[in-house]
Amino acid sequence: MAGSSSELRKSRWWRSPAGRILAGVVTVATASAVLVTAPGADAAASTLGAAAAQSGRYFGTAIASGKLSNSAYTTIAAREFNMVTPENEMKPDATEPNQNQFNFTAGDQVYNWAISHGSQVRGHTLAWHSQQPGWMQSMSGTTLRNAMINHIQKVMAHYQGKLAYWDVVNEAFNEDGSRRSSNLQSTGNDWIEVAFKTARAADPSTKLCYNDYNIDNWTYAKTQGVYNMVRDFKSRGVPIDCVGLQAHFTGGSSAPGNLQTTISSFAALGVDVALTEVDVTNASTSQYAALTQACVNVARCVGITVWGVRDSDSWRSGESPLLFDGNGNKKAAYTSVLNVLNGGGTTTPPTTTPTNPTTTPTTTPTTPGGGSCTATLSAGQSWSDRYNLSVSVSGSSTWTVTMTVPSPAKIIATWNISATWPSSQVLVAKPNGSGNNWGVTVQHNGNRNWPTVSCSAS
Ligand code: XIL
Repeated sequence: MAGSSSELRKSRWWRSPAGRILAGVVTVATASAVLVTAPGADAAASTLGAAAAQSGRYFGTAIASGKLSNSAYTTIAAREFNMVTPENEMKPDATEPNQNQFNFTAGDQVYNWAISHGSQVRGHTLAWHSQQPGWMQSMSGTTLRNAMINHIQKVMAHYQGKLAYWDVVNEAFNEDGSRRSSNLQSTGNDWIEVAFKTARAADPSTKLCYNDYNIDNWTYAKTQGVYNMVRDFKSRGVPIDCVGLQAHFTGGSSAPGNLQTTISSFAALGVDVALTEVDVTNASTSQYAALTQACVNVARCVGITVWGVRDSDSWRSGESPLLFDGNGNKKAAYTSVLNVLNGGGTTTPPTTTPTNPTTTPTTTPTTPGGGSCTATLSAGQSWSDRYNLSVSVSGSSTWTVTMTVPSPAKIIATWNISATWPSSQVLVAKPNGSGNNWGVTVQHNGNRNWPTVSCSAS
């Protein structure tokens, strides 16, 4: 999926300090070599996922488990996208049809399909007024609050360490910026922060998002309501890592001219931002180009997900709002999105044969800690856009390891630790009861140099 030739070729030039020096020499030696080899001179990528990956972003789609047997559908999905959101399969009515009886069959189908096609997965969604199972709809008060907490704990335990993002809470605001009334809201205004705190404890490796529609226009009351909540959460240390703008520019909505301001304003609070459910009435090329550009222009806009593959797959199919028509043909909007992701360049695929990047950095630094512990890094599995590192801590069982990845690389997943995030480049890891061997996934974004680590024992 993400492994386009341009992406692989780019990785080759940034795989190690030695490789960078070599590239520099070539650049000085001949002007023509610059055109061929400089990272910025890569030919345009030919799929949405690969084009987005050039700037460290993803391009995703909603996937419906019932369509995974349709090869026309899966062929496009596998080729074009490197992030998958289950369209309905991880919602509360799907995962907990009877109280405390969980069913992950359909969710796992989507997850397994995505992973086996090189895609990451965005979980959607844990706490929502809609698509609740019947037993939950009739609940209220403390009983419902406890059921929500149990639901979050059990569903997140099942997917522990597997998902890049989770939409913890979905659509909790009214158009006027106040809280939407629902059975969840009636359990107390703190239900959203309780959901996020529960989620962080259940799986510290995944990024926790608030997701909503009609929060794209910066001057709109609902946008401000959500913004104020996120700002409040950040100021009080309530764990929240990301905001999803659904960006349904269908059903009478359209992309606002100030979308980039909205994205950058949320990002300035210290959260990732994503466009999570994009569709546009009649797939207007100008709106698709503008929304893509608005994301690309903000460093912390991490990716775009369209809400389905072909028009015929859309929940609003009558508006033909997606990037592929019912026959699987690329629409004009597809090209407009691809061109923006490629930096406004052409869509000509690269003509050179790519060389696989070396799988991982080639040295294994060992950084002695300030106390009496040592963290040793070793290289794990590697993909074109990311790699795993294993960390082994010795000398103490009450360690704190601080890992800093070189910008613009980012740590996108962790396992076997309790994680906190002073910034998107810095991870503070402590034991979570799983022992002293743990790991991270690093999305290198072109910088494959080793992270630095320090270890201190208490
Ligand atoms: C929609 C699905 O696309 C439909 O198949 C389902 O019948 C209803 O839900 N906001 C969301 C998504 O967060 O989960 C919704 O998905 C669309 C609106």
